[in-house]
Amino acid sequence: MKPFALVTGCSRGIGSATVRELLARGWEVLGVSRRQDCEFQEAEGFHHQRLDLTDFETTSVYFTGVFHEVARLADRPRVGLVNNAGRLNPVGPLSRVGLRELDAALRINAAVPTWLAGHFAGAVPKAPCRIVSLSSGAATNGYPGWGAYCAGKAALRMADEVLAVELEEFDELAGRDVRVFTFAPGVVATEMQEQIRSAKVADFPRRERFEELHRDGLLVPPEGPAKRIALLLESDAGPRHQVLRYEG
Ligand SMILES: NC(=O)c1ccc[n+]([C@@H]2O[C@H](COP(=O)([O-])OP(=O)(O)OC[C@H]3O[C@@H](n4cnc5c(N)ncnc54)[C@H](OP(=O)(O)O)[C@@H]3O)[C@@H](O)[C@H]2O)c1
Repeated sequence: MKPFALVTGCSRGIGSATVRELLARGWEVLGVSRRQDCEFQEAEGFHHQRLDLTDFETTSVYFTGVFHEVARLADRPRVGLVNNAGRLNPVGPLSRVGLRELDAALRINAAVPTWLAGHFAGAVPKAPCRIVSLSSGAATNGYPGWGAYCAGKAALRMADEVLAVELEEFDELAGRDVRVFTFAPGVVATEMQEQIRSAKVADFPRRERFEELHRDGLLVPPEGPAKRIALLLESDAGPRHQVLRYEG
């Protein structure tokens, strides 16, 4: 049987590069995104679910079914979750950010991946399970104009830490071979970086720095972090929770 992974945000950027890498390494992958037009739509071993992760109702109903399926994957050599979907918007000072936009950003950057990781870890049978959360320097550094993004990434990093200690200290989770990685991929050449470079300076005063990185050819191609994510899913050694960043 093939190892199985769930990858959120599979339609582009780091998510689609991760799915490509995992399929090449013989994984079966369930990818989730709003867009249907994934490049691997017809690929063997790939399943796609169209879903807006900011919609709590459909997200909780859909994944509750997935968790039941995951609980039955006892014959798999390993299972993985890549909490990749994320969004930068709303960009602008917190004094101007709207509540609805703030809520949507915190849902996708923090609430949904936290919920997915907890329930995924709780559902897995004896198979080794690896969870990778896409993090960022924004989890630990305040960027002006990125309040929603920074707050979400900081919350997700702490949720990963909590999950790791829960796996140690709750009897109902005892004996599970689950490891959690909070992984910052670097400054990666994706649509998210295009959004950063197209923000108004009035909303994001540090835009110039990201324009410079792009101009100097310093953006990381998504295939690099994608390969590292696949290696983390396939890894066995190390502590329950690790905070890592891509260094090429
Ligand atoms: N790029 C960077 O430099 C960088 C740096 C540090 C951390 N990261 C993190 O790495 C992850 C991937 O970043 P990326 O640069 O590849 O981003 P991206 O190019 O913007 O892609 C984001 C992915 O998330 C999906 N997504 C967004 N909103 C969604 C929603 N409401 N429901 C379902 N799926 C949704 C998108 O699919 P649809 O639009 O089809 O739904 C897309 O597949 C993010 O968590 C990001 O914060 C990126």
